[in-house]
Amino acid sequence: MARSRVALLLALSISISISILPVPALSEEFHVIGRVYCDTCQAGFETNVTTYIQGAKVKVLCRDRKSMQRLYSVEGETDETGTYNITVKGDRHDQMCHCELLSCSLEGCNRPDPGRCKSTVALTRTENGLMNTVQHANAMGCFKDQPLDGCKHLLNYYLADV
Ligand SMILES: *[C@@H]1O[C@H](CO)[C@@H](O)[C@H](O)[C@H]1NC(C)=O
Ligand SMILES: *[C@@H]1O[C@H](CO)[C@@H](O)[C@H](O)[C@H]1NC(C)=O
Repeated sequence: MARSRVALLLALSISISISILPVPALSEEFHVIGRVYCDTCQAGFETNVTTYIQGAKVKVLCRDRKSMQRLYSVEGETDETGTYNITVKGDRHDQMCHCELLSCSLEGCNRPDPGRCKSTVALTRTENGLMNTVQHANAMGCFKDQPLDGCKHLLNYYLADV
């Protein structure tokens, strides 16, 4: 009697701890997702005339927090919607990681905006132990050499809100 109660309790506690554990516990693979755009108004931000660039090159780089030594890097490219999806292998723990725009690869729009060419990403489990395997990076962009007609009007509209 006492024994079967213990067994029942044990079975219960095991099933409870199993259901609480994060399911993909050890698939230490992260995906960094973001977009690269052409800032057709040289605005410094995305507007409703912004276009997205295929074939832009992006790097994910992780450094040691103290020594700043590079510990990991991997590159990727954007698809036809201007979106990249870079696979990072292994938990980066407390390393400092960011995405960096290497090149927009678009003639007439290939000058990275210094204010929008890096984005910090955290490539580790969250503190509650759940896997946060998808990281969305801020969009990064290049300036178009010749702003479109109508940009002046458009920017007045956007900046009026600020
Ligand atoms: C962008 O927004 C401005 C201001 O609302 C508007 O005048 C313009 O027609 C819009 N352009 C496009 C391509 O949607
Ligand atoms: C990113 O790529 C991985 C595999 O490489 C895939 O499983 C995942 O669905 C992709 N995510 C998006 C949002 O495309």
